[in-house]
Amino acid sequence: MEKRITIPEIIEKKQKGERITVLTAYDYPTAATLSEAGIDILLVGDSLAMVVQGRDSTIPVTVDEMIYHSKWVVKANKHAVVVVDMPFLSYEFSTEEAIKNAGRILKESGADAVKLEGGEEIAPTIKALLKAGIPVMGHIGLLPQSVGLFGGYKVQGRDVKGAKRLIKDAKALEEAGVFAIVLESIPLEVAKHITESSRIPTIGIGAGPFCDGQVLVTHDMLGIYKGFRPKFVKLYADLHAEMLKAVKKYISEVKEGTYPSREYSYSLSHEVLKELQEELS
Ligand code: KIV
Repeated sequence: MEKRITIPEIIEKKQKGERITVLTAYDYPTAATLSEAGIDILLVGDSLAMVVQGRDSTIPVTVDEMIYHSKWVVKANKHAVVVVDMPFLSYEFSTEEAIKNAGRILKESGADAVKLEGGEEIAPTIKALLKAGIPVMGHIGLLPQSVGLFGGYKVQGRDVKGAKRLIKDAKALEEAGVFAIVLESIPLEVAKHITESSRIPTIGIGAGPFCDGQVLVTHDMLGIYKGFRPKFVKLYADLHAEMLKAVKKYISEVKEGTYPSREYSYSLSHEVLKELQEELS
């Protein structure tokens, strides 16, 4: 069996100057491919609400849905650390409820860690989760679960007050004990400062080239999701175009009767065919 990366090894990568690779996965075949490719962290992001379920935001996704998707990712994974997003309002009411929901996610899916969106205000929750033995990844900057408050998917930390807030939040999360922090949609100078002043790895998404690692939504970078694509997403493939081409070809071949040909069919041996014809005549 292939050796799986551990959370301490993810932290060591920063010390060794090795960059950390992260992509989202929500199902067995995708997780198997990303794991085979050698990705360090598979993130079962609540972005699945948008790119898999076709919803308008990440708000409606439930703990049960996160567990359902995470199970298949864990089953397929041979190599990576698996991190699961805690959905909106699954950790805000009380530390008890946060532990209960995070505990369910890890116990029922077999994943390694959870990710929570928020800064200094969620430090007590993070400490409680760690005390219960649950590893946590942080997430600051643009918080998709708070788009209502932000007034849309906007770059964060663009003025001095906002940048200082992010720097303070990153410090609070590090002190609370997260093993890594996602920095989403923030200016590269702010991400560089946070990266250089923290001992734990920063994982950027729309945060420039100076983070310790990088995450993208797989459905965005492979061109599967045709919704809004932010500036920071590089299109590594256009699988939507490939799928459309293949499915159109299938439709026309089935209509024309060129598929399935004999090549794609089962047939009887001559002896059985002869005997059957005699029986039927
Ligand atoms: O839900 C998600 O996919 C995420 C990434 C954008 C970091 O949180």
